[in-house]
Amino acid sequence: MGPGDRVRPSNEAEAAHVGRRVLILGGGGREHALGWRLASSPSVAAIWSAPGNPGLAALGPTIPVDPSDPAAVVAAAEQADIDLVVVGPEAPLVAGVVDALSAAGIAAFGPSAAAAHIEGSKAFAKRIMVEAGAPTGGYEATEDRDAAHEALERFAPPYVVKADGLAAGKGVSICLDLREAREAIDAALVHRRFGDAGARVVVEEYLDGPERSVFGVCDGEDVVLLSPAQDYKRAHDRDEGPNTGGMGAFCPVPGFDVDDVDDLRTTVFRPVLRTLAARGTPFRGLLYAGLVLTADGPKLLEFNARFGDPETQVILPRLASDLGELLHASATGSVADVEVAWRDEAAVTVVLASGGYPGGYATGRPITGVDEAGVAAGLDVFHAGTAIEDGRLVTAGGRVLNVTALGRDVAAARDRAYDAAERIHFEGMQRRSDIAAIR
Ligand code: GLY
Repeated sequence: MGPGDRVRPSNEAEAAHVGRRVLILGGGGREHALGWRLASSPSVAAIWSAPGNPGLAALGPTIPVDPSDPAAVVAAAEQADIDLVVVGPEAPLVAGVVDALSAAGIAAFGPSAAAAHIEGSKAFAKRIMVEAGAPTGGYEATEDRDAAHEALERFAPPYVVKADGLAAGKGVSICLDLREAREAIDAALVHRRFGDAGARVVVEEYLDGPERSVFGVCDGEDVVLLSPAQDYKRAHDRDEGPNTGGMGAFCPVPGFDVDDVDDLRTTVFRPVLRTLAARGTPFRGLLYAGLVLTADGPKLLEFNARFGDPETQVILPRLASDLGELLHASATGSVADVEVAWRDEAAVTVVLASGGYPGGYATGRPITGVDEAGVAAGLDVFHAGTAIEDGRLVTAGGRVLNVTALGRDVAAARDRAYDAAERIHFEGMQRRSDIAAIR
């Protein structure tokens, strides 16, 4: 037998004992963190990734298939005799990869395309929130330019105009006056700045207050909440500059840890799961609730249908229990049956990005210092946008590396993460210097 071969266990109990073979879809820092934590899960025997990255390649074989091609993913999973596919980004979900895997009898962590619509359409997400009776702001959705302009009259400034579909994080406009708001509507509906993603707009009430993200691992009916993390979305210090995918994160958030958010299970997650199930589209996978802590209490801003990036890179280092069991239970059983435990330490991750990100940036820049940065216990460098060229590690994306540290508290973890980040170099590297500066 070769290194990838095995004798297939005859039943589920035996599979859990022998250890499952897990295929991770995606190739960013979130997927490297998922692979890294799954690799240390007692229930997991082997990690594969598609397309993966140099960090994931150190954990197991990488498969050069498009993670958003359902037929190619099913074929790859069958060929590698995979027991569980874990979907990282939203694109494969929306493309129906989980539906195709389920039809082929392969367990997959993530929602069906119909349930993932909760991230793919902001109007659909709002409708579900309202049907579920979950707290959120008012909204109107329309494809008609004049109706959208009229809708603005029923809201107060600042006006929020969103492209309905996935617009690479660029579809949201916060407008100080009516002129700006009308321009934002016209950019989407008339000038089609976001293509089909902007064929419908959502005009919604502005929610004032700090933003928080709460992740729930769902099995269609019930939910296990993960320790919330704080993300930093702006490119530069003091929350200045353009929005990015996230430039750093820390966990836990003082005063907002798992026990503090427990009531969200009954006010948000379970009602939303019931609503989706009643529509025939039960949600299994990771439901990411974006909340605003308003003066009237937490209100839902948005949902995502997958783990956050880079929040995952600080949540998973604190998870003391078996991630593989939890994700498998979400895909095939009941999450309430899985024991979930957290370490006391805090975690901080600092994103090292290519100069110019989130705008244009160069790639192919040699990276040094990664091995030196990640040598101590509780220090890990997750690969986000890297590649191997001519045997050298080089930059290959906007967010390049996530330097992640555990410490006795957030301040100690922060010091360790920044000390480690100092050892890593590539031309044009940019990073924020105020991640987790909460002391
Ligand atoms: N860090 C924000 C997100 O994953 O959407």
